[in-house]
Amino acid sequence: MRALRTLAGFAILLVLGAGAFVAHAWQSEIDPIDPPAQTSFDRALVTRGADLAAIGNCNVCHTAPGGEPFAGGLGIPTPFGTIHSTNITPDPETGIGRWSEAAFIRSMREGVDREGRHLYPAFPYDHFTLVSDEDNRALYAFLMTRKAVAATPPANELSFPFNLRILLAGWKALYFREGPFQPAPNRSEEWNRGRYLTEGLSHCGACHTPRNRLGAEKKDEYFAGAEVENWTVYAINMNSPAPVPWNQESLAFYLRHGWHEHHGASRGSMAPVTANLGSIPKADVKAIAAYVADVMGRPSQERIARGEAALATARKESESPFAISANSTNGIGEAIFLSACQGCHDGRRPVPFGGLNLHLSSAVNAPNAQNIINVTLFGLPAARGEPSAMMPAYRGVLNQDQLVALLDYIRDRFSEEPAWTDTRERVAATMNGEREVPIYRMDGTTQAPPETSMRTAP
Ligand code: HEC
Ligand code: HEC
Ligand code: HEC
Repeated sequence: MRALRTLAGFAILLVLGAGAFVAHAWQSEIDPIDPPAQTSFDRALVTRGADLAAIGNCNVCHTAPGGEPFAGGLGIPTPFGTIHSTNITPDPETGIGRWSEAAFIRSMREGVDREGRHLYPAFPYDHFTLVSDEDNRALYAFLMTRKAVAATPPANELSFPFNLRILLAGWKALYFREGPFQPAPNRSEEWNRGRYLTEGLSHCGACHTPRNRLGAEKKDEYFAGAEVENWTVYAINMNSPAPVPWNQESLAFYLRHGWHEHHGASRGSMAPVTANLGSIPKADVKAIAAYVADVMGRPSQERIARGEAALATARKESESPFAISANSTNGIGEAIFLSACQGCHDGRRPVPFGGLNLHLSSAVNAPNAQNIINVTLFGLPAARGEPSAMMPAYRGVLNQDQLVALLDYIRDRFSEEPAWTDTRERVAATMNGEREVPIYRMDGTTQAPPETSMRTAP
């Protein structure tokens, strides 16, 4: 049924693609140039470009595990197959060395390469289209002054008809709205700056907004949460699952440092995002936080009260640790939690080096157990060469029944939400490798250097 609907969708796209083909044909090629000398770029422009590249996570997607920075080749899984990022170093043959500034700006604004081919929106140009010409010039100066690396990414593995780039003309006609960003005249400068960065370069919605079956973000479920690469991405709108409501201050701290005392550490694909945001100007992080806090809205009195109650419970438990109960209905889950987890998660050692009291955890209130499964099985690897948040991996220690019992216990004890219904399937699929979970280092917990290869094999 689903496959049929997808096929029907693609029939529509084919027709639209054909229409768009007649209307626009291919985009024209922009002539190749001789690679400009690195010294021809203004230093200040390059420095600004470095900050902008960190905001845009160019390093995260354009660096393969163990590969050279920006040389591409990372496989990005999509429901349609795997798309590989390209080499964006200034190598003239395999990178963008022969791209003029105009060709680069067009690729960011319109999702078209120098030769005029449509690019897949796995490159988030549906967001980057909002970036100003001025910022694109700085990004170009930054990329053209990186080390040139000769590297060709592996071919994409997309099934027919998704391998036809011309269909992207149809996709764009349906879902793509070209920028640049238009500020709202009635909002503050900080809010507009925040919205420009959030919706544009930092493409938060690429992970936090669910997608339709043709891979476009659902505009009417803005920031409603999703699942990306087998990590649950929490809602960051009014449906945020955080027990203590977020505000501009806590968001700014979390985005900059990769953790917050009332919310815990950023994990999974969020870890490289916060690692990058740790290196950019404070005012820009503050602006992003102002905009996101506004999207979340003012919490109700009832929510504020629930948050305060959770904080009070956490404080109490850090003073007098929770003991085993005489008549537990889930003795196995409770015994595992008290012996393996409680010692670090009782709140006596503050976050991020100690674990969060789980009464405060968004993971426990999330729509499924996936993120707790991931951190429990694979742990939290330390950042390179520095003390940072660390949790051991329990893969090989707990069997499926024990992990399910533990998760049922955690949900029951630490959340008011109803029991999860698909925990057993998720545990089985994650343990047998059907659900592949990319593990990221916790470099987001400190002011990390602009790290590039944060992916390590589980
Ligand atoms: C979420 C992953 C992701 C992020 C983040 C990302 N890219 Fe990409 N980018 C890709 C993929 C995948 C492609 C290849 C698309 C295709 O083949 O159609 C690509 C292609 C490109 C291209 C076209 C290059 C060519 O040879 O055709 C440019 C230029 C580019 N990216 C620049 C950037 C810049 C600059 C940033 C940061 C501001 C960035 N990308 C961030 C995934 C990403
Ligand atoms: C590559 C995917 C990705 C991108 C891009 C991304 N996020 Fe996230 N985000 C995640 C994931 C996955 C989590 C859950 C991480 C965890 O469990 O710690 C998360 C968690 C969060 C949280 C914590 C929510 C909570 O209740 O604990 C906040 C806040 C957040 N993201 C904000 C942002 C903002 C703002 C941006 C843009 C600057 C952004 N994210 C970009 C994947 C992403
Ligand atoms: C050696 C100490 C240690 C042990 C043992 C440990 N953890 Fe952790 N855990 C941490 C640290 C540190 C973090 C990162 C800070 C944070 O977010 O809580 C963390 C994070 C987490 C998170 C994410 C919380 C959030 O929303 O931010 C969960 C869930 C979790 N641990 C569950 C467990 C479970 C279940 C066990 C037992 C099987 C366990 N931990 C054992 C140290 C530990």
